[in-house]
Amino acid sequence: MASASVYAFSFLQFIFLILLATLSAVLPATSEKGFSIEEATVDDLQLAFKRNHLSSRKLVEFYLKRIQSLNPVLRGVLEVNPDALNQADKADEERKTKPQGPFSALHGIPILLKDSIATKDKLNTTAGSYALLGSVVPRDAGVVTRLRKAGAIILGKATLSEWSHYRSNNAPSGWNARGGQGKNPYTGNDPCGSSSGSAISVATNMVTVSLGTETDGSILCPSDSNSVVGIKPTVGLTSRAGVVPISPRQDTVGPICRTVSDAAHVLETIAGIDINDKVTIEASKYVPKGGYAQFLRKDGLRGKRLGVVRSFFDFGNDTFLQETFKLHMRTLRKSYAILVDNLEIDNINEINSDQSEDIAMEIEFKLALNAYLKDLVASPVRSLADVIAFNKKHSKVEKIDEYGQDLMVEAQKTSGIGKQLNGALLNMTRLCKNGFEKLMRRNKLDAVVTPFSSFSSILAIGGYPGVLVPAGYEKGAPFGICFGGLKGSEPKLIEIAYSFEQATMIRKPPSLFA
Ligand SMILES: *[C@@H]1O[C@H](CO)[C@@H](O)[C@H](O)[C@H]1NC(C)=O
Ligand SMILES: *[C@@H]1O[C@H](CO)[C@@H](O)[C@H](O)[C@H]1NC(C)=O
Ligand SMILES: *[C@@H]1O[C@H](CO)[C@@H](O)[C@H](O)[C@H]1NC(C)=O
Repeated sequence: MASASVYAFSFLQFIFLILLATLSAVLPATSEKGFSIEEATVDDLQLAFKRNHLSSRKLVEFYLKRIQSLNPVLRGVLEVNPDALNQADKADEERKTKPQGPFSALHGIPILLKDSIATKDKLNTTAGSYALLGSVVPRDAGVVTRLRKAGAIILGKATLSEWSHYRSNNAPSGWNARGGQGKNPYTGNDPCGSSSGSAISVATNMVTVSLGTETDGSILCPSDSNSVVGIKPTVGLTSRAGVVPISPRQDTVGPICRTVSDAAHVLETIAGIDINDKVTIEASKYVPKGGYAQFLRKDGLRGKRLGVVRSFFDFGNDTFLQETFKLHMRTLRKSYAILVDNLEIDNINEINSDQSEDIAMEIEFKLALNAYLKDLVASPVRSLADVIAFNKKHSKVEKIDEYGQDLMVEAQKTSGIGKQLNGALLNMTRLCKNGFEKLMRRNKLDAVVTPFSSFSSILAIGGYPGVLVPAGYEKGAPFGICFGGLKGSEPKLIEIAYSFEQATMIRKPPSLFA
């Protein structure tokens, strides 16, 4: 049995690689005048615009062609925007009539949005579910308003784990009923969710930059698995208004890009106050004057105190990972960071055994989703109960027989704000105060460094930010390194992440696309 399933698995993987090789062979590598769009950064593209080596129209045409070729296998893109070329023409026209600008870094740059982020245009916003197909949103999400104002081109919607993986524990990561199973372009296997399509799409140059969302791990994990850069911002730094929610206490919208520089430009564009998400008012004190690009400093690691929490560095007998991260620690030191090693989080066992995050999320999901659905102008479903009924009714197309909807069913049983929620919230506040906060302050740390996205729950329960950067490949499968800090520490985290990225330059696109 075991050997048969291993055989089937590698055979499928083989077919996948052949398919990708065939598809990528027919794609053009360069645009007009020898400028290569593949792997170009936002800054590269802006320079090419300025020198008339490239237009936004050419850029969008390139991505549309690439999506057409690659997406049937990779399934990173759910919908393309029928107005993308018009938006490109408008950006090109603006550049022609006002050659000196000033233009935002994202002017004329295509971006993909996770399908849980609302757009008031021809695109649907469905969180990957047929239950929301045909729903009419009242307005653009707050982050989309900012993107449009900056002149970014909304290229389309990215796939995701359906409902940001708050439908069923049994649903595979990166799967949704509308888009099917997203694929990791390096391995053909799990892309990790829930912002899987955003990571797949930037990794394979189907778009320049993208937005994902995270409640616990949903930006950091797909970035880790697809060798891209993810910024999970402090909760409230970016507006969640118009985003299909899980928990307003933990949800955050952030960039998934190929470089730290691109991610900083995107964060700069979307951060700030939105009156439709009150938490952004308080969090706006964290937005630095002059934006985030100023923190893209090659010497950004110099003098930074980085905590090394060893319990997160358990690689078992995997000597490759042991050696790789030893090397990374050396690189950090050589860049004049101060490593504060062998730290432990005092209450880590209590954090690991505590159920408060799950309990709170169940209650919050029902409240927040009902509010989102109620606010829609029109929709096939108006409540979580409707969604559950819809899934049951359409079980064939929704694959409910295989994957079920246990998370939704459990959430539906909850009864709102009360003793249980308050208890869970108190627990998490205490766990953060006696855990991560204490660790950071006692050791005067600028950030904690951990492998992969293993630190995501610590960051999630406190609303803390994290940045993930590519850190290597094991037998072709990517993995990353994560820098996490206290609320509002994005400037420091960007300095650290950029400095590490520039010192290592590890990311390479999936080899079949080189
Ligand atoms: C939105 O969904 C409708 C209904 O399936 C479909 O006809 C339309 O093409 C979708 N929009 C886009 C931009 O794909
Ligand atoms: C590493 O440990 C795993 C189980 O923990 C075992 O299956 C594997 O054979 C070990 N590999 C080596 C090289 O020791
Ligand atoms: C909250 O903390 C208390 C005290 O440590 C513990 O007994 C309780 O089980 C925790 N609640 C949850 C939901 O884990």
